[in-house]
Amino acid sequence: MEIDKRIQFNSDGKLIHFLNIEGLSKDQIIEILDIAENFIETSNKKNKNLENKTVASLFFEPSTRTKTTFELASKKLSADFINIDIANSSTLKGESIIDMIKTLEAMSCDMFVVRHSISGTPHFIAKEVGEKISVINAGDGIHAHPTQAMLDMFTIRKYKNKFEGLSVAIVGDILHSRVAKSLITSLTTLNVKNINVIGPKILMPENLDTLKVNYHENLETGISKCDVVIMLRLQKERMHEALISTDDYYQNYGLTKKKLQSAAKDVIVMHPGPINRGIEIDSEVADGKNSVILDQVTSGISIRMAIMTLIIKNRA
Ligand code: CP
Repeated sequence: MEIDKRIQFNSDGKLIHFLNIEGLSKDQIIEILDIAENFIETSNKKNKNLENKTVASLFFEPSTRTKTTFELASKKLSADFINIDIANSSTLKGESIIDMIKTLEAMSCDMFVVRHSISGTPHFIAKEVGEKISVINAGDGIHAHPTQAMLDMFTIRKYKNKFEGLSVAIVGDILHSRVAKSLITSLTTLNVKNINVIGPKILMPENLDTLKVNYHENLETGISKCDVVIMLRLQKERMHEALISTDDYYQNYGLTKKKLQSAAKDVIVMHPGPINRGIEIDSEVADGKNSVILDQVTSGISIRMAIMTLIIKNRA
């Protein structure tokens, strides 16, 4: 499916959907981080930014963090929030996604938060919805997870106070990771020049050479002196066959306290979750003093509040 990455902007260049990081300027990313920071400063106090709006979440794939923080964010913005139970919806009786969306539009939904295993599904929906309705990508196939990348940028700025001059390592299954692709685009837009991607060659995308990153096959070399280390899960649900044994993976790429010593002394360790302890990360690191993994989860509330607020404001 050809993915139209410009569809999230209106004719004035304003964001009316949030579907991918591509196309966002550095200033647009910083604006979202600043809005989120304001929410944090007021302890995410409830406001009326989405009063009289209805948000429907459509998760065709499992989720804990993204789904729950979108629900919390919607409620803090005073929206009515509907969680569609896909497993018991009429899609099981053959209803198409578009017929489902049109049905929900008839119930006056204003915003759809969509996660789907097929890349481009939120973009496809954004093309089909009425002109006053917004779509947010909550993760599509192996393509993008833009709100996760935004909360990761928020976390990096919180701990490092800057982007330029940082060395950031992204470790693991880049090939199947939508998070990695959105992260690389975000970091590049924010002028992070030293982005290392680390993992076995078999888990690297074909277009690696076209990305502005340095590839390392060895973990300790790749994370050497890095300020930020972002660990990824093996995305087994997106592999047609087992590409690597978990034992081999842990031996070579599992982040232990000892291996982490090659990174900068004040390194932060991040992970979008869910984490698989003993495969890509040891508990000693996941729960250790350098880990900001649970802080990432918390930042997800204010970042999603910021994105929803901005989209609705741009439509006013
Ligand atoms: N990071 C992330 O997308 O987690 P969930 O699958 O739990 O939403």
